[in-house]
Amino acid sequence: MTNYLLDHTVDDTFLMCAPDHFEVSYVINPWMAGNIAHGNRSLAMQQWLALVEAIGQVAKIKMMPAMPGVPDLVFTANAGVVLGNKVVLSRFRHVERQAEEVYFEAAFTAHGFEVLTLPPELPFEGAGDALMDRSENLLWFGHGHRSDVACATRLSELLEIEVQPLKLVDARFYHLDTCFCPLAGGYVMYFPEAFDAASQAHIAARVPADKRIIVGSEDALHFACNTVNSGRHIFLNQASDTLVTQLQAHGFVVHQTALTEFLKAGGAAKCLTLKLNEPQQTVSPQVS
Ligand code: ARG
Repeated sequence: MTNYLLDHTVDDTFLMCAPDHFEVSYVINPWMAGNIAHGNRSLAMQQWLALVEAIGQVAKIKMMPAMPGVPDLVFTANAGVVLGNKVVLSRFRHVERQAEEVYFEAAFTAHGFEVLTLPPELPFEGAGDALMDRSENLLWFGHGHRSDVACATRLSELLEIEVQPLKLVDARFYHLDTCFCPLAGGYVMYFPEAFDAASQAHIAARVPADKRIIVGSEDALHFACNTVNSGRHIFLNQASDTLVTQLQAHGFVVHQTALTEFLKAGGAAKCLTLKLNEPQQTVSPQVS
């Protein structure tokens, strides 16, 4: 079955940063534990280049400079959240990542974005936790681990968009993009157990059952929800045959590209990219 909503030609642009200095040198999420100095940088580079090559077949990629001393800079999803010409810059919870903020700000300025910031006391980790719905003018916002719940109101005001907060409750799924992915055509692919009951109910209330793609724990632990979506194309680390069949049934083409070196830092395909083209529509802002 092909979904006509996925048939339009897309012209997406993603921001990426080469893993020249990527390594696990501290532990700020459960995936990093035991992985300090256990990485293979040349394999990481190969895996990252394969992702660039795959995404490059269907979308544009803009590179930002790699920098020494900030090994997680490669995870550009955490740079900020983009809407139209605006970006709300991240303010990292952990000191280990705070030095990245100036580099991400410079990249946004270089690409002509208006850079907005949140109050200094509010941690916010960009498109790791703030994801645009693909059919509604709605920003899904994950909190509970990295981003502060109070960012919801501020994001709504700054970006003039409705925000739906979702509470994350499993430390392994510490960013929203590790367990939830809005897809073209209004689909949402997610691992329900990563959310509290009220948030699961919010998702069910907003997304019709036939648009909810439920991911099981095995796929979730392979970071299947950490998906880059461009039109009908889906790029992810690994997915079971069951999940691939399910996605194909909704008209998606699934590209599996191994990102095991990045899993050691708690990231995969989506974390390694930031979509720069997010069309702005005007609606009345609110927080649900
Ligand atoms: N080591 C990084 C961290 O814990 C990984 C970030 C992954 N990014 C993401 N968007 N989920 O902050």
